[in-house]
Amino acid sequence: MGSEFKQAVQYSERWLDIIKQKNVPEEVGKWIIEESQYNFAEHFNKGWLEYRKSVTEAGDWAMTEWTGNGACFHDVLGREFIDCLGGYGMMDLGWGHPEVIAAVKAQLDHTPMPSQELIDPLRGVLARLLAMILPGDIKYSFFCASGTEANEGAIKLAKMYTKKSGFITALKGFHGKTMGSLSMMGKSDYRQPPGILYGGPVYHVPFGDADAVERQLDICDKVGVDIAAVIMEPIQGEAGAIVPPDDFWPRIREATRHYGVLLIADEVQTGMGRTGKMWGVDHWDVKPDIIALAKSLGGGVMPISAFCSTEEIWQVMMYPNPFIHTTTTGGGALACSAAIAAINVTLRERLWETAAQKGDYMMGRLKELIERYPGIMKNVTGKGLLIGMHFHDGHDGYKVAAGLFKRGVLVAGTLISANTIRIEPPLIISYADLDAVVDRLEDTLKEIAQEK
Ligand SMILES: Cc1ncc(COP(=O)(O)O)c(C=O)c1O
Repeated sequence: MGSEFKQAVQYSERWLDIIKQKNVPEEVGKWIIEESQYNFAEHFNKGWLEYRKSVTEAGDWAMTEWTGNGACFHDVLGREFIDCLGGYGMMDLGWGHPEVIAAVKAQLDHTPMPSQELIDPLRGVLARLLAMILPGDIKYSFFCASGTEANEGAIKLAKMYTKKSGFITALKGFHGKTMGSLSMMGKSDYRQPPGILYGGPVYHVPFGDADAVERQLDICDKVGVDIAAVIMEPIQGEAGAIVPPDDFWPRIREATRHYGVLLIADEVQTGMGRTGKMWGVDHWDVKPDIIALAKSLGGGVMPISAFCSTEEIWQVMMYPNPFIHTTTTGGGALACSAAIAAINVTLRERLWETAAQKGDYMMGRLKELIERYPGIMKNVTGKGLLIGMHFHDGHDGYKVAAGLFKRGVLVAGTLISANTIRIEPPLIISYADLDAVVDRLEDTLKEIAQEK
C-alpha cells in the first residue's frame, strides 16, 4: 500500500473511533474543531469558513456541531443552541427524533439499501402513504434524496407529459441548485455565474401576482410558446417567508387549467406541517398536478425527497419505458423507513396544528418587538413556523443574527443579504424555548439600538 493510502487508513480509523463516542472530552473537542476548520479550509470550501457567521463570530474555538435533541443542539464543547434554523426547514421533528431513529436503526439491521432488482417493500409503502395524505388525486411518487432532485424530476415529468418545454416561475423563487431547478430559480446570484442553463424558455414573474401569471400564460399562448408548467413555492421560503395574496394560488390553478398547463407546487420547505397546514397549498385548498417534497420528509434523520403526481400524468413514467427515470441510491430502505416514521409522528401529533398555534404566538411576540424597535425591525411575514423577520438595514439584520448566535440561538440569516432573517424552528419546540428566543432577540435589539 502506498504511504498516502496508509495515512488514509489511519486517519479514517481515528475518526471511526470518534464517531462512536457520543460525548468527547474537552481536549478531543478542541482537536475536532481544529481538524474540522483545517479540513473545511483545505478540502471542502474555504469560502464557507470566511462567510459563515456561526464560525467566524465564534473566535478561537469555532462552533462545531456535535449532537442534538429536540429543538436544541450542542457543539463539540457542549455549548447549547436553540435551533431556529432547523436545517432550513428539515427539522420539523427536531434533532434525532427517537421514533424516526428507532425505525431507521431497525431497518438498518436488515436491509440498508435495495438490490435494485427485486421489489423493496418500503418504497411502495411510502408511495401509498403519500397518496393517502397528499392533496387531490396525487397517487404516484418517485423517491430521490434532495429537494433539487425532486424538482428536476417534476420538471422532466411535466415536459414528458405535456410534450412542451416552457416554464413560468417566480422572481426570488428557490427550487435548488442543479441545472433544471436552478433555471427555475429567481435569483441572478446563483443563476448567472454558470451561464446558460435549461434549454427551453423560462419566464419569471413576480411572486403573488396572479395577473402577471395570467398575462404571461396569455402572451405565450398568443405567440405560440408552449408552456409545460407553472412552478412555484406555495409560500416563498428562501425569499423570506413571503405569503402570496389569498387569491393567488386559486387563480393560477384556474389559469393553468384554462391554458392546458400543469401546476407544480414546490413543497420542499412548506410541506409536512411547517406552515400550519399539512401542505402549503392547503391554505387555499388548491390541488396541484405535481408536488415536490424533501427536507422534513426524512424526519430530520435521513435525506429523502419525492416528486408525486396523478395516475394520468404518471403514465409517461411507466410506459413505454418504466426506467425512464431512475436513481441508484435515492429512496433506499433507510430513507423510506425514516419518512414512514416521520409521516406517522406528524399525523399522530397533528404537528401542523402545533405549527399554526406556535407560529401565531411567535408572530405576535415578534410584532411587539417591532413596536418597541421600529427603527430596526420593519415587519414580520410568514405562516405557521415559517417566519421572516425583515429589517430596514441589512447591517442590522446581520447584527441580529450574530447577536442571537452569541446568545445561543441559531437563525437563518446571511452575511451578504441580511435584510431578512428566517425563523423556522422544529415544530416540536416548547413555548419556553420560543420565549427564550424572544428574550434573547430583545436583548440583541437593545444592544443594537444603544450602538446607534
Ligand atoms: C422550496 C425549495 N425547493 C428546493 C430546495 C432545494 O432543496 P435541496 O437543498 O435539498 O436540494 C429548497 C432548499 O432550500 C427549497 O427551499
